[in-house]
Amino acid sequence: MTSPPVNVFEFEALARAAIDPMTWDYYASGANDELTLRRNRSAWEEVALHYRVMVDVSQRDLSTTVLGHRISLPVCAAPTAFHQLAHPDGELATARAVGDADSLMILSSLSNTAVEDVVAATSAPVFFQLYVYRDRGATEALVRRVEAAGCKALVVTVDAPLLGRRERDVRNRFHLPEGFAVRNLQAAGYGAVDERQGASGLAAYFADLLDPALSWKDIAWLQSLTDLPVVVKGVIRADDARRARDAGAAGIVVSNHGGRQLDTSPGTIDVLPRIADAVGGDVELLIDGGVRRGVDVVKALAWGASAVLLGRPILWGLGAGGREGVARVFELLRDELDLAMALCGCPSVAHITRDLVQPG
Ligand code: GLV
Repeated sequence: MTSPPVNVFEFEALARAAIDPMTWDYYASGANDELTLRRNRSAWEEVALHYRVMVDVSQRDLSTTVLGHRISLPVCAAPTAFHQLAHPDGELATARAVGDADSLMILSSLSNTAVEDVVAATSAPVFFQLYVYRDRGATEALVRRVEAAGCKALVVTVDAPLLGRRERDVRNRFHLPEGFAVRNLQAAGYGAVDERQGASGLAAYFADLLDPALSWKDIAWLQSLTDLPVVVKGVIRADDARRARDAGAAGIVVSNHGGRQLDTSPGTIDVLPRIADAVGGDVELLIDGGVRRGVDVVKALAWGASAVLLGRPILWGLGAGGREGVARVFELLRDELDLAMALCGCPSVAHITRDLVQPG
């Protein structure tokens, strides 16, 4: 990188130049008119920070915990699919960079790399994002496999009974090229995402293989398979957050899947306050969707999240510069958060409280 990016946004153009167009469209796109994709971002921009003054911020501590795992900043890697399409080192590069940042990674079910290899490559705790397949035997085998591999939690995605319609993927007939696979599902025979006429191959994969009958009782089923804590990802309503809590979830990811599922759903930071009011003291809250700036992290924590998840920016860093690019994305966020905390009068994350976004 000759002229290094000064913010996360600047990685986007670098990554776009490095990544093939079908993959770029897959990563970049939201559902349909991409209203939620844009709203996720604009919603953060609408939140104002009511900073405190005259607080000693000469020492600042950005560290926190997520489900008991200490991380050096409240920014983690969201689960995103197919990292080898962005860079040959794929999920291994991402995992190493997350370790470099002393953060936490959520590995996608749709990774190109075996979960055992990802866990072995990093010093970071790895959670596993789970899609529940119609083939419950294969799902059960996957759960047992990721637990044996050393993953620390299951993050079950609940907003995708079918895949959202990403029109660019339909146009491009998105598929996994020769030599790439959904590695952890290969043994079950679900490793290929084939090209389909007039359709997204991934949408067809979901329709054929994933279980659209998934419901709250399946959280108990998952818990019967594993000692790992179960986190529910994809909640945007307070009543669903209560259901997740009542079903035994240890955490909730407030998420609309990066605007890739139901278009016109609300921006995630807009719904976080209601969810925090409903269940905030009971379960840990994480949030993703449009996080690009250190101030966004302050806003998320002020409304009650313990950390944010970064999706596309990780893929941009990966595409632009492999492990080093992802590490740089984390460092940019770290520097911005550190400055934002200083300017908000917050020497530690415990000082990031609701009055910063909702003054009395
Ligand atoms: C997969 O989870 C996707 O959103 O494409």
